Amino acid sequence: MSVLLTNIGELVTNDPEHGDDLGVVTGAAVVVEAGRIAWTGPAASAPAADVAVDLGGRCVIPGFVDSHSHTVFAGDRSAEFAARMTGEPYTGGGIATTVAATRAASEDTLRARGQALVREMLAQGTTTVEIKSGYGQDVATEARTLRIARELTPETTYLGAHTVPAEYADDRPGYLRLVTGPMLAACAPHARWVDVFCEPAAPTAFDEDESRDVLRAGLRAGLLARVHGNQLSAGPGVRLAVEVGAASVDHCTHLTDADVDALAGSWSAGSGRSQGPDAAGAGPGTVATLLPAIEFSTRSPYPDARRLLAAGVPVALATDCNPGSGYSSSMPFVVALAVREMRMSPAEALWSATAGGAAALRRDDVGHLGVGARADLAVLDAPSHTYLAYRPGVPLVSEVWKDGARGAG
Ligand code: NIG
Ligand code: FE
Repeated sequence: MSVLLTNIGELVTNDPEHGDDLGVVTGAAVVVEAGRIAWTGPAASAPAADVAVDLGGRCVIPGFVDSHSHTVFAGDRSAEFAARMTGEPYTGGGIATTVAATRAASEDTLRARGQALVREMLAQGTTTVEIKSGYGQDVATEARTLRIARELTPETTYLGAHTVPAEYADDRPGYLRLVTGPMLAACAPHARWVDVFCEPAAPTAFDEDESRDVLRAGLRAGLLARVHGNQLSAGPGVRLAVEVGAASVDHCTHLTDADVDALAGSWSAGSGRSQGPDAAGAGPGTVATLLPAIEFSTRSPYPDARRLLAAGVPVALATDCNPGSGYSSSMPFVVALAVREMRMSPAEALWSATAGGAAALRRDDVGHLGVGARADLAVLDAPSHTYLAYRPGVPLVSEVWKDGARGAG
């Protein structure tokens, strides 16, 4: 059955067929068939379909692609947040609190928590989400987390190397052997990605050599790499991500010129990679994924998005939804922060929250509404995408379609 979505005031396609700047079509329509986009263009020239839905002049955007979240966990860290707001710094030390609660939680509790957060995300327009482990830090709990995450999304990430748990505080090599050995073997069947918290400035996170070992072990097990890097200090994370061919390095709060050059270089034609989202045919290199809800919730300086964009680095935006450094599940909030605090234009921010996230997950079937893409889209109760930042905190997502079916909103 085909469905015609018509009377769309502004349609954002991210499809170069409709122009460079978000591929916007005004007075538009979309035809959906078999869960995919079959046609987009001016409503006046839309082909016939079995069913027509009038969207009343509202704006339609591709569903958000939230390429970084930690949404399967137990416990509560609101007191840590409150303490931070009155002056405590964020160090990552509170991760141990969530590890203890997650280990103690039943599978049903963890599943219910994850399901609720993914539903909450969908209602805010997120149709693709990545979910990491990392609050288990033992073989059984890491594997259980990833099994549950896999029920919620195909984009699952093994983050056994989130921090070194207390029982290994005096035996870091022992924990690394576990993470790169039996824990990896138990988790790899449920994961697409391997990740590491590469942050020499945080005593329980991982340095460059440790991080390289973790990533290389994951790659050998058939996983693809992504990295938590340069969150608390200008460390080795970005360069390591580029070195191992990671799809994304996330946070990028503290960058040197060499880091920016390395990211830009990963997309250049001479990098030895031959396919990617940019018209010049370079890439896929390493996307810089920025997580401004974390700077908001840790009261830290925001990453310099303009510097990355000026260097030609593809930028993604994601929530990093987690109980510690930032507990927002809202991509519209992230877009508003990116515009207000990081000086991205509304168009740049929306691209980064959709097509940018897809690039960070090396997906070409989501993040845009070109013909053949998944029919994943959000209907905004607004005339244009600019309203996402212009009306921050207002629930503008009025309807969500996923795989061509009308979902929550
Ligand atoms: O992405 N940086 C490391 N991990 C998470 C925070 C985890 C936590 O504090 O619970 C992050 O910010
Ligand atoms: Fe994270």
